[in-house]
Amino acid sequence: MPDDFERMWADLAPVGRSARSGGYFRQPFTTPERELSAWFVGQCTARGLRVEADAFGNVVGWWDVGTGPALLTGSHLDSVLDGGAYDGPLGVVSALAALDLVRERGVVPGRPVGVSVFVEEEGSRFGLACLGSRLATGATPWESARGLTDRDGVHLGDVVEGGTSSLLDGVGTFVELHVEQGRDLVDRGAAVGVASGIWPHGRYRFEFTGAANHAGTTRMEDRVDPMLTYAFTALGANKQARLAGQRATFGRVSVEPNGTNAVPSRVTAWLDARCSTEAGLEELVGSISTQAADRADRDGTRLTVVAESVSPTVVFDDALAARVAADHEGGDWPVIPTQAGHDAGILSAAGIPTTMLFVRNPTGVSHSPDEHAEVADCLVGVSALADTLERLAR
Ligand code: GLV
Ligand code: MN
Ligand code: MN
Repeated sequence: MPDDFERMWADLAPVGRSARSGGYFRQPFTTPERELSAWFVGQCTARGLRVEADAFGNVVGWWDVGTGPALLTGSHLDSVLDGGAYDGPLGVVSALAALDLVRERGVVPGRPVGVSVFVEEEGSRFGLACLGSRLATGATPWESARGLTDRDGVHLGDVVEGGTSSLLDGVGTFVELHVEQGRDLVDRGAAVGVASGIWPHGRYRFEFTGAANHAGTTRMEDRVDPMLTYAFTALGANKQARLAGQRATFGRVSVEPNGTNAVPSRVTAWLDARCSTEAGLEELVGSISTQAADRADRDGTRLTVVAESVSPTVVFDDALAARVAADHEGGDWPVIPTQAGHDAGILSAAGIPTTMLFVRNPTGVSHSPDEHAEVADCLVGVSALADTLERLAR
């Protein structure tokens, strides 16, 4: 008898957990994340699934039944820095539990079913979100990814073999269950929902260069301080996004040389911007960049802006979403958009019909230790995923 949802959840709870914050540090190819990956392989093996891994660290456990294009469900096991427990692992544990439920119901799918884990979904180590699914679909070629570096200068090519992937060959449909990362389902009083699409979003590296100098002896009017240019830029970005009804965040900053008693020589800051339309995103990032350049001129600093990744709008397959959401006891599941990125968006863009299920998050908080889902809602999610797999695997 394989472990049930709560047993599996309890297994994962201590892995990579910070005693200080209660949050998770499960960066790709570090010990906690590798422990989770090994745990996943063990769970697949215990269920008699055939385990297939690709050269990037993505893994699928296959239930080789039926014929025709496979139905894949899963999510990721890595976390942001100091992240919540649910973003990613909820979709993996629910997929295993849903597969058990389908089997318990005596249903034999008409086509192969796989449970997947994609690596580095958050981009918390190598900077590129959905890295594993981008590599698996070919959206990002290995040659352009292998040189990505983490904060210690380690190359992606040093930690994974790389090459090509055939993991998604023959996949006809992908379903990702995910904790909701806002309060839409709470406001609607619904335990589960279906995704309609993902806002376009991107990551942009702003490098502000100035001149290092003594914090005491340098007169205020003589400074060329990139921290000031950055500070004005961060305030401006927040104001512009608020005025436009969109999202702009500077969540990561690196300062050189990072000493208390020196004017810094360089500040590197990463802008995460998200908008309801692609044109809006371009406009917002353009105006934040222009304002930053104007400010750099006034401060005597220099600015370069590099778009590290830009993800276009994702519109999930309408007919698939409608088929998944309709005809349930208690009414249809709501179909809602999200501002968060997902591997599901990458697979959808690669032409694989894709849908997502969301599970209510009472705090509405995510990418934080405060992210939450009640066990009762998680179990509703498992049963909703099992129903979905049955519908789609007929
Ligand atoms: C991933 O969770 C993202 O939206 O950044
Ligand atoms: Mn996330
Ligand atoms: Mn996620």
